[in-house]
Amino acid sequence: MLKNKSLVSISDLSDDDLNNVFLEADKMLDYINSSKKLDIMGSKILATLFYEPSTRTRLSFESAMQRLGGSTISMADSKTSSVSKGETLADTIRIIESYSDIIVIRHPLEGAAFLASKFSSKPVINAGDGSGEHPTQTLVDLYTIKKELGEINNKKITIMGDLKYGRTVHSLLMALTRYNVDVTLVSPENLRLSDYVYNELKNKLNITISDSLEKYINDTDVLYVTRLQKERFTDKNEYSKLIGSYRITAKETEKMKNNSIIMHPLPRVDEISPEVDSTDKAKYFKQASYGIPVRMALISMIAGD
Ligand code: CP
Repeated sequence: MLKNKSLVSISDLSDDDLNNVFLEADKMLDYINSSKKLDIMGSKILATLFYEPSTRTRLSFESAMQRLGGSTISMADSKTSSVSKGETLADTIRIIESYSDIIVIRHPLEGAAFLASKFSSKPVINAGDGSGEHPTQTLVDLYTIKKELGEINNKKITIMGDLKYGRTVHSLLMALTRYNVDVTLVSPENLRLSDYVYNELKNKLNITISDSLEKYINDTDVLYVTRLQKERFTDKNEYSKLIGSYRITAKETEKMKNNSIIMHPLPRVDEISPEVDSTDKAKYFKQASYGIPVRMALISMIAGD
């Protein structure tokens, strides 16, 4: 049961919770496709509190709440709020909880969503905390695999990109420990998973680590690509050296097997060439669209009556 609970880590969800979110998301997708008006959230208000840029996460949460019949308030940019005057996160949360029924927060510091949940009597959803986690992106990712490939079990999943700083990868890997999958991690050596993340996962997940995609691409069901997380690099020279160090083009898609898919949490920079977009492998825009039914499901399960 998710009612009134915060979602800080993907580990906060039980296997049943995950399945129930996916079942509910299917119903929401039917509603969206039928253009029926829902009034599940009535007079409830969802607050989005974003200390970092976002397109998909913030707007899909707001769209989801409005599709459920609820309302939204937003701090889309901390520079235009009293955060710029020095207000602490704790004080901001104490105020926003009295203005809303559910709070969605993105923050550059790992642990910020957890802290927010401790200062809020209303449920808090982590929409990304630094390089930590992005649990609702993982719900969208898993839902996409289920919708596009039928099931998650018995799949070969290759995750390529910035595994060190990419929070979507951290939450996704934690979630994949619940399934029978083979995971291959491909990245430049400097961007491999941090030891603390790897050590947490290594006994729970069948993981292969490589710096080359070539050996794995023709046997992959899901190729999950992430961008270099430019904003997390403390050494900008290191970032500059890594630009262009991996890229998926039409040449790579031709090596992929039938029914395999390419996913990306987006935004994309240059790690997937635009020519890939028109291939049947490209599912990243579909993946982003699933953000609406999945977040509708989550909001209604957490904050619905
Ligand atoms: N996938 C994702 O978190 O996208 P945004 O940064 O645009 O929210």
